[in-house]
Amino acid sequence: MKRGRGILALALLVFLCLNGVVVAEAENVDVMEKWANYGALRRDENSYLRPDDFILREEAAKALSTIILYEAGPNDGGVPAFTDVDVSSPYYESIITVASTGVMNGISADTFGIGELLTREQTAVIMYRVFVSQLNIDLRSSFSDLWQASSWAGGAISVLAGNRIINGYSDGSFKPHNTIKRIEFITILDRLMPEPHKIVVNVPSPADFPDFDRTDPNQAPADPYAHLVGKKLIALTFDDGPHGTLTPRLLDALDAGGIKVTFFLTGANVAAYPSIAKRAADEGHQLANHSYSHKSLTSFTNEGIQNDINYASYIIENATGVRPTVLRPPFGSNNARVRSAVGMPLIMWSIDPQDWSGKSSDTIYSHITSRARDGDIILMHDIVQASIIAVPRIIEKLKQDGFVFVTIDELIAVRGGAQAGELYYSFR
Ligand code: NI
Repeated sequence: MKRGRGILALALLVFLCLNGVVVAEAENVDVMEKWANYGALRRDENSYLRPDDFILREEAAKALSTIILYEAGPNDGGVPAFTDVDVSSPYYESIITVASTGVMNGISADTFGIGELLTREQTAVIMYRVFVSQLNIDLRSSFSDLWQASSWAGGAISVLAGNRIINGYSDGSFKPHNTIKRIEFITILDRLMPEPHKIVVNVPSPADFPDFDRTDPNQAPADPYAHLVGKKLIALTFDDGPHGTLTPRLLDALDAGGIKVTFFLTGANVAAYPSIAKRAADEGHQLANHSYSHKSLTSFTNEGIQNDINYASYIIENATGVRPTVLRPPFGSNNARVRSAVGMPLIMWSIDPQDWSGKSSDTIYSHITSRARDGDIILMHDIVQASIIAVPRIIEKLKQDGFVFVTIDELIAVRGGAQAGELYYSFR
């Protein structure tokens, strides 16, 4: 028989676990006997204590009223006229006691909630109100779902759990809105008062309840690009650097203009000026790959392409701590073989002032500002002095025209992403 019962109990436990019902409170029916004998719990007509039934609000009121030395409470004199509590109700006196002392409020101004089940967070708040004087407010525990608790309940849950009065579930949750069993309610009460007796209750004001962390840990982090959505975006890009003197001048101008750009660096020049590349990265600009040798990649074998690209990435990462995620092939030159070999999105351009061909800064400025459209990628070179001179005016004009300057990574993130081996001329 004993063995059979054990198997039954095991089967029940497995059933409960499979259904996600892990009992939060250790169960000891003797505790219920003690409180029933004290008069806090009614037995049913068959004299059962029904430990696994969920406790009703009026049953909780009954249990608590037996320990409250009712003299006067904050709600005294204005005894709530609950429309659902009849004077003839066996719970009438208990409800008046808990309501008058402020231990339990109605579920609305004129409704106590007769016949409704008490929730776990309501239990925490009620116990907190009665026993606050014997709790260490500095002892707090948190739960993965504490943020789901009502604003008036989270602090009480946190303190009661920190004082080891109320438990959560094995998965780290508390389930504040779940109902609570009769035996769980009495077990919690018994931890606070091992010998049942009457006490004077001084209910703290809601303002004195401890606060708790209301942030949802499961919430997706706020979209870092949200501020760019719906804006007119434009990306300035500078190829072939760093240059020993012009790139620092450009960085000063970008800093003054308060914008971030993308540098398509050659590995060879980063090897020559690693600290300038590092400065660009430290100031928030994007560093991208423009090959090591700046030779047309179509002239290389597949292995040669990868060596030239990977070596540039290695040098850039070594100098700056940042590994490029996008490539601009030298001269834009590419074919299917190049595209499949590089392993990164290929970022081309939609506006090219041909600044390398001896154009004046005025011409560069006009070419760019007269053509700029949302999503454009502008090609310049930070080894060309005329472009560096034109940059402050370009920034000023495009800002006036409502553009927001972004890096290529930002443009990609806001405008649908980019795939390795694909060509991108703009991100509309
Ligand atoms: Ni180039």
